[in-house]
Amino acid sequence: MSQPLVAIAMGSESDLPTMTPAAEALTELGIASEMRILSAHRTPDEMIAFGRQAADNGFKVIIAGAGGAAHLPGMLAAVTPLPVIGVPRSLDNLDGLDSLLSIVQMPKGVPVATVAIDGARNAGLLAARILATSDGDLQRRLLTMQQEMSSAVRAADERLRDNNN
Ligand code: RP5
Repeated sequence: MSQPLVAIAMGSESDLPTMTPAAEALTELGIASEMRILSAHRTPDEMIAFGRQAADNGFKVIIAGAGGAAHLPGMLAAVTPLPVIGVPRSLDNLDGLDSLLSIVQMPKGVPVATVAIDGARNAGLLAARILATSDGDLQRRLLTMQQEMSSAVRAADERLRDNNN
């Protein structure tokens, strides 16, 4: 198994279904990732230790997802020089708006690139784009993926127009 370049951290095991699409997107692009459950509130010591060591352990990007009082992405960003991508998870009470605001409203000096509520696939793709800035082969795979997406939309448009005529 190759060295995981992307860490996918989440605050609870209950975040796993929300965060799995990030790992799937990375796997589709041939990028190894590692998933961890690290809670800013329930296991703060492990979370900080992981964040402090992440760059030295070979990670290039951290994706972090949490819901509610979602402090995990910001706290990891506070202790690592790596780019951190935050994924707000929707919970029942406030539909993820609480998570979104907790993650996106970072103080200046501590950036977290925040994707849409439950937008873990885009977090994986954004991590891939970051890695692709220094990896031409990966950049080509990303372009192919974009072209396939365009082809699928064109095919759907064609089917719709055929059905309407
Ligand atoms: C957050 O609290 C987690 O990231 C999760 O989204 C939310 C609920 O956690 P559980 O109560 O399901 O463990 O810290």
